[in-house]
Amino acid sequence: MTADPFLWSSLQRPYPIIQAPMVGVSTPQLAAAVSNAGGLGSIGIGASSVAQAREMINATRALTSEPFNVNLFCHRTPTPDPQREADWLQYLRPWFEQFNAEPPNNLSVPYISFNDDPALLALLLQEQPAVVSFHFGLPPTDWIAQLKANGIVTLGCATCVDEARQIEAAGVDMIVAQGNEAGGHRGTFEPQHCDAQLPIETLLKQLLTQCQCPVIAAGGIMTGEDIQAQLQAGAVAVQLGTAFILCPESSASTAHRQALGLNPSIQTGITAAISGRPARGILNSAYTELTRPEAPPLPDYPIAYQAGKALAAAASRAGSVDFAAHWAGSGAPRARAMPAAQLVATLAHEAGLSPD
Ligand SMILES: Cc1cc2nc3c(=O)[nH]c(=O)nc-3n(C[C@H](O)[C@H](O)[C@H](O)COP(=O)(O)O)c2cc1C
Repeated sequence: MTADPFLWSSLQRPYPIIQAPMVGVSTPQLAAAVSNAGGLGSIGIGASSVAQAREMINATRALTSEPFNVNLFCHRTPTPDPQREADWLQYLRPWFEQFNAEPPNNLSVPYISFNDDPALLALLLQEQPAVVSFHFGLPPTDWIAQLKANGIVTLGCATCVDEARQIEAAGVDMIVAQGNEAGGHRGTFEPQHCDAQLPIETLLKQLLTQCQCPVIAAGGIMTGEDIQAQLQAGAVAVQLGTAFILCPESSASTAHRQALGLNPSIQTGITAAISGRPARGILNSAYTELTRPEAPPLPDYPIAYQAGKALAAAASRAGSVDFAAHWAGSGAPRARAMPAAQLVATLAHEAGLSPD
């Protein structure tokens, strides 16, 4: 497969800056503001029903006529295991009790993988957003071919060379290289296999030598200087998540904003204990207390997420932000609070991309 060097240019974006899809944080307002400002905005429909996804796409379209990206979760179909789930809930019981709460009686699958949702494929083929991106793996190859045949540019997230090769072999147009610095869930295809956790600089170099597809760099990119470094290293574009959390157009909670905005020495870490898949967020007891040697095996993603969210809700009812899933990358101390259009303009200016 040969790279199409004009693929990114075909999107006609003045700036090679993608606002990362962030389920729970990105909104149609944020995506539209970024696309209107010359970047590529993204909405995340990984945890949405078909009706919710249609609503988000329409809401974005109502705010911009520019291209935007629609992001999907392509995780392996979870296997419900009542015993494993009961053991996990029992293990979590003392932390629930700390907040005078009880764990839920059982867990279920809160949302399904795109790969199990042909109705969502039908919606995308009908709506034809300019870009569709995949996280946690890939959909069936013929679905990718159908999306592309409808003029949709496709992106797949890779955390290592092996995943990038699978993305290329499946015919996906561009690779999002997700460095270890990245906030949110690791895009690893099979989380039980080792995650190389490569810094973006190393991963980008490896993918550029081993792959033909254009590569987009993601992870810890917070300023124009960071953007310039990735573009100079050979990335066709950059994808930033954490940098956009404090924008007023995001739906980040007040607690998430406060955790990010008030602490210059903020620390992030990676744990699977919140959702069942490794993800990077602002350190709290979910990272430091839940992963004990005696912990039973985690339920599959996203079944475990129900327990993580229930624990965070119990803490919140008791007035604590402990155990919250405040996803953020290691660049978190450098997050800036400003409207999305101003942030895109600032990043472009700092990176020497804008004419002024
Ligand atoms: C709050 C948050 C939520 C995220 N949710 C998603 C998501 O729904 N889909 C996805 O593909 N990536 C998601 N990511 C990961 C981003 O795509 C990207 O890899 C990451 O933001 C890049 O690192 P940075 O946060 O340091 O900029 C999320 C990241 C954050 C910070």
